Amino acid sequence: MKILGLETSCDETGAAIVKDGKEILSSVVTSSESLHQRFGGIIPEQAAREQLKFLIPVLDQTLKEASLPVTQIDAIAVTYGPGLIGSLIIGVETAKTLSFALKKPLIPVNHILSHIYANCLEQKAKIPFPVLALVASGGHTDLFLMQTHGKLKPLGMTRDDAAGECFDKTARLLGLGYPGGPAIEKISAQINSHVSINKNSFRLPRPMTNEDNFDFSFSGLKTAVLALVKKQKFINRRLQGLIASEIQEAITDVLVKKTLKASQVFKVKAVLIGGGVAANQRLKAKFINAAAKQQLTTSQKRKLFIPKPKFCTDNAAAVAAAAFYQNQSTPWKDLKTDPSLSLKTTTS
Ligand code: KG4
Ligand code: ZN
Repeated sequence: MKILGLETSCDETGAAIVKDGKEILSSVVTSSESLHQRFGGIIPEQAAREQLKFLIPVLDQTLKEASLPVTQIDAIAVTYGPGLIGSLIIGVETAKTLSFALKKPLIPVNHILSHIYANCLEQKAKIPFPVLALVASGGHTDLFLMQTHGKLKPLGMTRDDAAGECFDKTARLLGLGYPGGPAIEKISAQINSHVSINKNSFRLPRPMTNEDNFDFSFSGLKTAVLALVKKQKFINRRLQGLIASEIQEAITDVLVKKTLKASQVFKVKAVLIGGGVAANQRLKAKFINAAAKQQLTTSQKRKLFIPKPKFCTDNAAAVAAAAFYQNQSTPWKDLKTDPSLSLKTTTS
């Protein structure tokens, strides 16, 4: 089954054609990120206008790269929420038009679910259930227990800022630009390789790691970074790097610790990580390390899945993969965007 996916929930514009939920025939993503850089965050109005400008060229390119006549597509999938309303509308209305014109089924996809299903792309191994899924992005830090496809139980979420939001806001405090996650990862890698100083003087908290729940909180970390920045007389590149590296350590420590604890409590067979923050290579290394240790100390073998970085951030291939497993179409006339859609409302 060949599904054409569309993704326009934020500042990325994506289209992709994916066969049977895993084989990518083509995937094109462009972004209006550079436009937002000088403001240090996304301007929703501008993001929506860029979606309108980019979507048709991105769609054309996707069809061209797949060398597939549009009539050979079996279904259209589109992100319908959560996200920015102006951006979402562009993708949803385009998908509805395609569904009507081509007489193909239309599958609405929850954006959070697409981050989880990015793990199926180019993946030969079958994902064994039950699964624990962590979605860490700019808007979400959620843990779910998945008994099977489409059956998700929320275990915990952030009570304030999301992990990606924390990267973005603290990077801004350090003057590192937007988006903060890649900027913090880059400078941390540079600094770690040639600086050795007492890192304890920059020690940041690891919020909620010892609490008996699966929720997260990152706004205190942001406040601690603000206090740390204010204490410095001036911030040179070396200091930027040291603080950035500690921010990355703190956020990744929290994500790894809480996720592995949940994986033990719920005795899952696989752990799936997704969302923009999952593109972070330090996070990946820590998860691999921790998972390996856990396998030695427990008899259960847990499989760890992390998508390639380009499938962690917003993309349409993940939308098409999620749609394949969900496989529930909606008449085009009934589909509306839902900017504050949660996963609870889409699952039984
Ligand atoms: O999933 P995504 O592309 O969009 C949302 O659904 O929000 O995630 C974007 C977020 C941003 O906050 C960005 O700073 C973060 O993911 N991010 C990263 C990295 N790449 C993107 N965070 C840490 N390390 C990265 N390499
Ligand atoms: Zn996302």
